[in-house]
Amino acid sequence: MRITFCQGVLAVAIAVNLLILHYISSLQQRLLQHHRDHPHHGSRPLLCPPLKPGLTVLIREFEDFENYIPDVVRSFLKQDPELNIVVAADRLPYPPMLLPNAPNIHVVLLKPSPDRPAYEFKPETYVRTEYVALVPDGVKADTATAQLEQMLEEFRSSQTKVEMVAAPVRSPAPLRCLNLKVSLKEWTAEYMPAPPASRLCTALTGEAVVLLRTKDFFNLSRPLARPLLTSLFVQTSLRGWAVRVLDVSFSLLHQPLLTSAHNQWKADNLAKANRLRLFQDFGLKRVILEDGKEQWFGCSKETPRCFGTIHDDTPEYLYQNRWTPPCCLRALRETAKYVINILETSGVRYWLEGGTLLGAARHQDIIPWDYDVDLGVYLEDIPNCELLRNAESGSVVDEKGFVWEKAIEGDFYRVQYSEHNHLHVDLWPFYPKNGLMTKDTWMDHRQDIEFPEHFLKPLVPVPFAGFLALAPNDLRGFLELKFGEGAIEKPEYPNPAMKSLEKGS
Ligand SMILES: *[C@@H]1O[C@H](CO)[C@@H](O)[C@H](O)[C@H]1NC(C)=O
Repeated sequence: MRITFCQGVLAVAIAVNLLILHYISSLQQRLLQHHRDHPHHGSRPLLCPPLKPGLTVLIREFEDFENYIPDVVRSFLKQDPELNIVVAADRLPYPPMLLPNAPNIHVVLLKPSPDRPAYEFKPETYVRTEYVALVPDGVKADTATAQLEQMLEEFRSSQTKVEMVAAPVRSPAPLRCLNLKVSLKEWTAEYMPAPPASRLCTALTGEAVVLLRTKDFFNLSRPLARPLLTSLFVQTSLRGWAVRVLDVSFSLLHQPLLTSAHNQWKADNLAKANRLRLFQDFGLKRVILEDGKEQWFGCSKETPRCFGTIHDDTPEYLYQNRWTPPCCLRALRETAKYVINILETSGVRYWLEGGTLLGAARHQDIIPWDYDVDLGVYLEDIPNCELLRNAESGSVVDEKGFVWEKAIEGDFYRVQYSEHNHLHVDLWPFYPKNGLMTKDTWMDHRQDIEFPEHFLKPLVPVPFAGFLALAPNDLRGFLELKFGEGAIEKPEYPNPAMKSLEKGS
């Protein structure tokens, strides 16, 4: 048989096509095979495989310079050699920590290194079990009692709904059950003692091993912030979670944990610094302890005012759905009391004005979201007060550190809490004219209007911010003239067009 040139070309073309087809199909086969072998490619930790039953021990609270983590780890491995243990440190511990080299033991560094992927620095990459137990330094697991298993068992079979269980550590700081109330709006955390023998708490003090669901723990805002338990309970109490104290307990490897007074002092200082940073990060400026003592974080005479310049009468904290920081309210009360005392002793007639008077009428205090205090004064009385007289020619720092000045914004006076902290009381001078109280500088505010002098005749004392201050008679008439009907009963933010109380809370 003879083959034409055309037939030859056709045959070659078919052969080439078949070859290409074979090549493509084998390539697909290989790709499929690769997918089967490496189901998650390079992004394995991002596509989280489901959590395995059981628990992981997570150790976070320890110091570099002296710790017993290797002993803690060994004691838990004695209970269960397969136990997953994760040690989380901000950076590589130094001096080095000599841990057993095993696939179930991980040290996670939380500070990322620029040459490594982010998931390596996330503890959730290594905690792949359904439960996680937070274990403090120095804790000894007991082979005979198998405490972790007991905790897990009790958690699973728990009748009352709790999100966490805790086992006390027998240490010099005994475990105490507390109730914690956190109000971000008021920048406040309040610890209260729980009823005696109470086992159901919203916070704990002292040392404990705490067990919770891994998915709950890593769904917190900052699961690993230190001090670990302080941070944990602030976050969990905001979510309405509870912790149940179990009968199971742990002992310490040895007591005291730190061998020298110097190291103890170092550890105490670091704990204090961590606590300060934690409350600052969480925006908690006032902490009331279970014994009633108060701790304040931020705002003093030495710090700047803790909110910036105010735009549209709406301070920045209102946009954060928060009210005036309690330390600012305290400083405003203190400044108001101080200024009013000076006005009274030097013979300057004054009265609570504007929003300040509204606060006095509503709840005998500064409105919880207000940012300054306003007083009206008789212009003709100004020369009676030496500090106001002197303020005419520049700002004056008085003997108590308050700053008196003529405001640059217009014809009024301002007394600042301190040179650094510009929280202030404003003094607005009015003068009588044809039976009306008037002035020369007007602000673009509804309440900044003339009013009949009879409201000031006489002035009447009202309770305000913990003392008695003078106010116009017929409080309601005066306030409704200035703010409109129902002003006392209907609270509203200063500029509802920007941020309104209803929508914002
Ligand atoms: C994580 O927390 C948020 C709010 O705190 C909640 O709505 C969500 O259901 C939680 N997710 C899981 C997986 O628990």
